[in-house]
Amino acid sequence: MVNARKKITVVGAGQVGTTVAQLAAYKNLGNVVIADIVEGLPQGKALDLQQSGCLQVFDSIVTGTNDYQDTAGSDIVVITAGLPRKPGQDRSDLLKINAKIVKEVTEQIMKYSSDPLIIVVSNPLDAMVYVAKQVSGLPKSRIIGMAGVLDSARFRTFVSLELNCSLVDVDAMVLGGHGDSMVPMPRYTTVSGISITDLMNTEQIDRLVNRTRSGGAEIVGLLKKGSAFLSPGASVVKMIEAVLLDKKRMLPCTAFLEGEYGWDGIFFGVPVTLGISGIENIIELKLTEEEKKAINTSAQDVKKMIDEVDLFL
Ligand code: LAC
Repeated sequence: MVNARKKITVVGAGQVGTTVAQLAAYKNLGNVVIADIVEGLPQGKALDLQQSGCLQVFDSIVTGTNDYQDTAGSDIVVITAGLPRKPGQDRSDLLKINAKIVKEVTEQIMKYSSDPLIIVVSNPLDAMVYVAKQVSGLPKSRIIGMAGVLDSARFRTFVSLELNCSLVDVDAMVLGGHGDSMVPMPRYTTVSGISITDLMNTEQIDRLVNRTRSGGAEIVGLLKKGSAFLSPGASVVKMIEAVLLDKKRMLPCTAFLEGEYGWDGIFFGVPVTLGISGIENIIELKLTEEEKKAINTSAQDVKKMIDEVDLFL
């Protein structure tokens, strides 16, 4: 039987993986395979999701598996596997344990898919996407970290709440690593094209920037168990949609730098164009001195983590 639908594999049947599978199926983006090591978990979630198909009206076939053979020929693989942050825990505390998990997952994926596009979500993000690149050997266009779309969504939300204006009109740009030194860019954050630097005072902007930086931790603190999953899942699906529908969306994504922004050999959040080939272009912005300083601080943090993770590979 010929099946021309795209194949989307989600590794990790936790909260983020389940949200990605659900939204990808609801949007009919392709057939979805949920892979996890826990016996029965991905199968149960897949069956439950499949049974919502006649209600939500989608044709995607959803399967769950503990066997990587079932991921063969994937067009897109989303890696969410790994332990989530606990309250008070830094993303880098997870470095060693999740590096091992992401390494094993990537090896298994590459055994059965020759040219997938991999989107990494596992934390600490900037190091985990580096692990997946080193292990897979995929070109930089086909291995992407999800962070900027989520961090920008948080910034957009806070801006719209502060100004009491529609979310739809707010656009935001958050660059850098997915850690405490990430770089929300007020100059490139707009409401209907008007920069927020014209709409808010410095106190307001600084408050929203700081809340964005600790946006993930705020939710971890509230949930007590686990981390955010609804907006991370939606962010991944926005990226999948941009790729599979060749939308050429310009989004902040974690990309491998080779000289851009003055950095080489690290993954870093930068504006990219996302289309069917993956990252089709990295956009270099003309930064102010202050922005350059913030970018370099964040890049140094990422570089430190990547140097550390390199020792485990
Ligand atoms: C967060 C996790 C997904 O920022 O990194 O909530």
